[in-house]
Amino acid sequence: MKEFTNEELTKILANKVRELRVAKEKAEELNTRLQDSMAELEEAQDEMAKQRDHLQDNMSKLEETQQELAKQRDDLQVEIMRKTQEVLRSERLSAIGNLSARIAHDLRNPLSVIQSTSQMLKLKLEQNLDEKSLEQWARLDRAVYRMSHQLEDVMDYVRMSPLKKKDYSLCVILQDVVERIVAPEAATICLPQNDRSIFCDPEKLEIVFVNLLMNAIQALESKVGTVSVGIFDDPEDPGNVLVKISDTGAGIPDVIKEKIFEPLFTTKQVGTGLGLSSCKNIIEQHGGTISVSSMVGKGTTFTLKIPKKSEWDSLSKDDVIQTRQ
Ligand SMILES: Nc1ncnc2c1ncn2[C@@H]1O[C@H](COP(=O)(O)OP(=O)(O)O)[C@@H](O)[C@H]1O
Ligand SMILES: [Mg+2]
Repeated sequence: MKEFTNEELTKILANKVRELRVAKEKAEELNTRLQDSMAELEEAQDEMAKQRDHLQDNMSKLEETQQELAKQRDDLQVEIMRKTQEVLRSERLSAIGNLSARIAHDLRNPLSVIQSTSQMLKLKLEQNLDEKSLEQWARLDRAVYRMSHQLEDVMDYVRMSPLKKKDYSLCVILQDVVERIVAPEAATICLPQNDRSIFCDPEKLEIVFVNLLMNAIQALESKVGTVSVGIFDDPEDPGNVLVKISDTGAGIPDVIKEKIFEPLFTTKQVGTGLGLSSCKNIIEQHGGTISVSSMVGKGTTFTLKIPKKSEWDSLSKDDVIQTRQ
């Protein structure tokens, strides 16, 4: 066996120590790399977890969007059905409208024959009639009067003819209307002291004022009360005029307030429910608006806002037969 000298042994040991140090350094380097890799792995894991959460979020959003889309599709289907029914209904209503316009028109002539013949006969026979027969005759007259008013309402409603506009005094129209309507003695009608001339169809505005004044008088329910009409400049727009028709009558309960402008809505036994609807059509045809404020037991005010001269006048020559003086 080979004997090592001390010197050789020291050299071998020194070599071994060097080898061990290199191995240790390598191991340390490996360890650091491993740690780095572990950290990277953790980061990658975190990133993956984030991506997964993100994906889940997106999935649930997608589901929500799908549900929303399904709901919108259902809503759309319901809307289409509703619109289809509305179109069918409006077609039916317009057919009924045409029919009633024709019937109303055809009934007007025979009715005025009945009216005038009744008046002639009454003049001839009045002396020979007893009280009961006179009362029956009066009832006949009242019925004919009511019928002719109802026919007027129907005709006013269905007749959407073009406006025949001219500069016209509101007070003159109001005066004509007051002379036409029959008001009970308990009702006091106050007309405005001031006046405005506006570019309008006076015959159509007559229809509006007759309806609003008749409604106001009827709202007094034969009790003592006042119906007053006021003419004002619109504080919000000097191009408009405001006409206010106020009564001290029964008032309109909130529950029916939004229905009163609908055609055929009436709370009266012999009402047609077409008056306010005609008023709204006519005022809107003039480019204006109609609104109502009311307190039950206190009274009602209808406010008409009408342009003194509509900005459409120069544009709508085809629609409007202008008879400016
Ligand atoms: N000045 C008013 N005061 C109280 N209620 C009113 C007034 N004007 C209209 N109404 C209500 O509005 C409804 C609809 O009016 P209208 O369209 O003129 O039809 P009608 O007079 O034939 O009933 C009336 O039945 C009534 O209930
Ligand atoms: Mg009416």
